[in-house]
Amino acid sequence: MSQHDKRYQKSQELLENALRIIPLGAQTFSKSITQFPLGVSPHFLDRGQGSHVWDVDGNEYIDFINSQAALNLGYNDADVNQAVLKQLQSGVSFSLSHHIETLVAEKIIAMVPCAEMVRFGKNGSDVTAGAIRLARAFTGREHVAVCGYHGWQDWYIGSTSRNLGVPKSTQALTHPFVYNDLQSLQNLFDQWPDQIAAVIMEPMNTTYPAPGFLEGVRDLAHKNKALLIFDEVITGFRFSNGGAQGLFGVTPDLATFGKGIANGYPLSALVGRKDIMALIEEIFFSFTFGGETLSLAAGLATLHKLQNEPVIAHMTSLGEKLIDGVKKIIHEHKLNHLFEVTGHPVWSFLIMKGVEPYKQEDIKTLWMQEVMARGILSYGTHNLSYAHHDKDIERLFSVYNEVLPFIGDVVAKKELHKHLRCEPLRPLFKVR
Ligand SMILES: Cc1ncc(COP(=O)(O)O)c(C=O)c1O
Repeated sequence: MSQHDKRYQKSQELLENALRIIPLGAQTFSKSITQFPLGVSPHFLDRGQGSHVWDVDGNEYIDFINSQAALNLGYNDADVNQAVLKQLQSGVSFSLSHHIETLVAEKIIAMVPCAEMVRFGKNGSDVTAGAIRLARAFTGREHVAVCGYHGWQDWYIGSTSRNLGVPKSTQALTHPFVYNDLQSLQNLFDQWPDQIAAVIMEPMNTTYPAPGFLEGVRDLAHKNKALLIFDEVITGFRFSNGGAQGLFGVTPDLATFGKGIANGYPLSALVGRKDIMALIEEIFFSFTFGGETLSLAAGLATLHKLQNEPVIAHMTSLGEKLIDGVKKIIHEHKLNHLFEVTGHPVWSFLIMKGVEPYKQEDIKTLWMQEVMARGILSYGTHNLSYAHHDKDIERLFSVYNEVLPFIGDVVAKKELHKHLRCEPLRPLFKVR
């Protein structure tokens, strides 16, 4: 690693060290060097408070990644901290179950429309894998239809271009369909009649559901005797207290939650109809840390706060302002050929487009270099939390007002590489 900005000196040294013994130097793909251009990015964060984080070089950022959307309250939330500290005094993991499992399950059942029973996991992937095994056991079928991202396990990742190491026989059971395209799902049912156990989907990611689309998916799944599973690992406890199913009024048979359920503590949940969930007693869904109590205490405090404070309303109205403002900036600077904002207010995306002779990755790399240098941490997402405030959004606007026209200008002059102080990012596997 020869050249790098002085601003990221310590990050760079720690990265070189980590890369010797940790593949990709990170535990999460989207925190790794695959997504953060070398030499112009921070690679290690040191602490966070509210909506702000500080990297190991002492640089401060407004965080629009928010721990991959795991934080819906923000960093270092006092109520969550207090609940965790209290639980810590009496123990973390026990030899038998702890009553707090039932308390968190009761809260989820009170908030989420489809939830009649609940089981916990640690990562989103635990519960999406559990949901698929359960659906296969319940229907006696093996194929699944997928739409969106559902985690790292064989059953799903085998259907993407990152399928190295996944048996062909497993890959052959998972079939992607296209969001807002009912016919693409119908085609799968035609191709695999009476063989699809479940339709699992993110109820929304970059695009709003077209009118009737989610209802259409539900009806098609049920007509074909398949289960409908909403993967709400991101939308859950973010789009509404009842997740996307609460917001859009379509109730699935099963749903999976993770991320925001415990404001950054490792907790996920598989929930759904009682008659289906009861069959978990017959499949195998079990792990040592499934009932770990610090995360459950964090979950209880997070859900309590969601019920008692205007968390979702605050994030949503701030996000609406953000989307409107960024659209205005793009429009005013006549940059529609390069940038677009999509998504829901609490989880929106700045889409960057390739413009000849530049690839999308070239544009994105320069954009990241410039926004991170100005104290905005993002790889194109605006993941909001309750801790984001108006002044964070105002700062984002002022950074975009500088950076977006600058990129428009260098692209027009075909001088992008002259301004790039690093190798451009390489194309990544696409799941959304
Ligand atoms: C919609 C969705 N499902 C599942 C997962 C997998 O969750 P985890 O990374 O916690 O295993 C993710 C992670 O980003 C996700 O966004």
